Amino acid sequence: MGHIHVIHENTAWLEPLAGALDAQGLPWRDWHLDQGAFDLSQPPPAGVFYNRMSASSHTRGHRFAAELTAAVLAWLESYGRRVVNGSRALDLEISKARQYGALEAAGIRTPRTIVVAGPDLLAETMQRHFNGGPAILKPNRGGKGLGVRLFHSAKGLQDFLASPEYERPVDGLHLLQEYVPAERPLITRVEFVGGRFLYAVEVDTSDGFELCPADACAFGDAYCPAGEQPRAKFTIIDAIDTLLRQRYEAFLRANHIEVAGLEFIRDREGVTYTYDVNTNTNYNAEAERRAGRSAMTMLARYLGEELAATARHTPTAAASA
Ligand SMILES: Nc1ncnc2c1ncn2[C@@H]1O[C@H](COP(=O)(O)OP(=O)(O)O)[C@@H](O)[C@H]1O
Ligand SMILES: [Mg+2]
Repeated sequence: MGHIHVIHENTAWLEPLAGALDAQGLPWRDWHLDQGAFDLSQPPPAGVFYNRMSASSHTRGHRFAAELTAAVLAWLESYGRRVVNGSRALDLEISKARQYGALEAAGIRTPRTIVVAGPDLLAETMQRHFNGGPAILKPNRGGKGLGVRLFHSAKGLQDFLASPEYERPVDGLHLLQEYVPAERPLITRVEFVGGRFLYAVEVDTSDGFELCPADACAFGDAYCPAGEQPRAKFTIIDAIDTLLRQRYEAFLRANHIEVAGLEFIRDREGVTYTYDVNTNTNYNAEAERRAGRSAMTMLARYLGEELAATARHTPTAAASA
């Protein structure tokens, strides 16, 4: 019946999924997709493909991994292969501008955002559209919070652009975005597997903007020292607003995305803004232990079910593999 092929470019992030797939005895293959030669006229291997290509792949020396993945997904899809998080998911993963378009089309509010190509236009754009500040600068192709910065004045932005700290976004596109002052210093990341709500994680943002939940990126001290009770940096909650959850699920359905983490902030008036769609999702093991949950177990089970369903529907592939 073929294998579950996991397409990715970060071995450290694969480990928890590898463990869950092995624990369930599922046949799977590691497809590290950074380089390769693919004959488009030949059929791809049998099985189910799960795309975990990351928007931040270029920061790990895999500059063209996302572009290669787009080509490979087109190949897989042209042969009718079942791809979990297929080409539309990758499209959104690597472009926040496309994410915001798709979110708004699904009736989900996003922060006001200006796309800016060309660093020389940034300060002027900030002055014009955000009245000089505050505003958030972020790369269109982001990941792990890298390059996300808050500016209080166009002058501050201008100085930053002239400093060695500034890095041009890999796709040439900057986003200047309305700063949403949160009612509490936290954001919520909502996890979905198989297009269905699994759980949400509240992430303490007191330490800044690099908020990757993967263990490989976890802060040494998982507890925020502020406040009377030590508060875990990542805390799992079992429910979010029902209407928001329904809109998220409809958004994922409309965009053929099965596995995702959607991030939102609630402002001081209680208005919710969704600002990030992660289709390559990582789960925080410490928070999961405390809550007695395992998203990777659920994900592995889902992939196993998809593989079984594919085998039922393609008898020739089942016979030949
Ligand atoms: N518009 C905003 N207003 C306030 N905080 C924001 C805004 N956008 C991003 N942030 C903060 O920056 C973090 C990283 O931004 P995000 O868009 O998720 O980038 P990435 O794709 O790199 O994770 C968020 O988790 C949040 O804490
Ligand atoms: Mg994010």
